[in-house]
Amino acid sequence: MNLLEVENIGKNFGGVRALDEVSLMVDKAETLGLMGANGAGKTTLFSVIAGHLKPSNGIIRLKGKTITGYRPDKVCRLGIARTFQIVRPFIGMSVRENVEVAILFGNSGYDSASSLGDRAMDILDDVGLQGLSETFAGKLTLSARKCLEVARALATGPEILLLDEVMAGLTPREVDDMIEIIQRIKLQRRLTIVIVEHVVKALNQLSERVVVLHHGKIIATGSPQEIAQNIDVREAYFGASDT
Ligand SMILES: Nc1ncnc2c1ncn2[C@@H]1O[C@H](COP(=O)(O)OP(=O)(O)OP(=O)(O)O)[C@@H](O)[C@H]1O
Ligand SMILES: [Mg+2]
Repeated sequence: MNLLEVENIGKNFGGVRALDEVSLMVDKAETLGLMGANGAGKTTLFSVIAGHLKPSNGIIRLKGKTITGYRPDKVCRLGIARTFQIVRPFIGMSVRENVEVAILFGNSGYDSASSLGDRAMDILDDVGLQGLSETFAGKLTLSARKCLEVARALATGPEILLLDEVMAGLTPREVDDMIEIIQRIKLQRRLTIVIVEHVVKALNQLSERVVVLHHGKIIATGSPQEIAQNIDVREAYFGASDT
């Protein structure tokens, strides 16, 4: 059975059809890349899956169970965590405290037998932020803020992680570090990942399969190699074909 199924999802914002009959499936332990130009509907799709937006039509299923229209906290506790393209830490709290809040909010079955602080530190270790645990989140550099966003999502104990442009604005070296972090946490936690990324190299390196959205519709699905050669994608996404 597919872990996550998106079936004929549509989302209208007034006259804008941000998603138009989008259907896709994600297998357990798969990493699915989601690409598309600005405004294609990628973030909207994440918001619909995670419960931050109600779809205009269509169905979302998790392990065969319909979860369409569930509130974000309920979707989170069922095991779907997302990051936000515009990161949203509690800026007046330390990095560690931000992760502790996410542990308490989430699905990870926290019990007071294990120290909340220790659990948070383990997660910070996984994303390379252990040295900044007591720093205020508002003081972090962009790359550290992106790592914290991943840590906060991880802290909720997800089975499925939706990553929305966690590499945007990073230097090539920071991108490489983030790729390594994502590969490591995926293996350690047997995560299923859907990743939105404009950094094509990173998307291709991480994804087994890629789906391309264009004006709210899926125009191609395939391996990274197939997508790179797909003429519709080259025209829609890169704005040019080879001819
Ligand atoms: N809350 C909203 N209200 C009105 N329109 C919206 C809203 N959110 C998104 N849109 C519109 O829906 C379309 C899809 O936007 P979305 O943010 O999902 O694109 P995206 O693929 O994530 O783009 P980007 O690569 O720039 O992040 C755009 O036309 C956008 O202007
Ligand atoms: Mg977006």
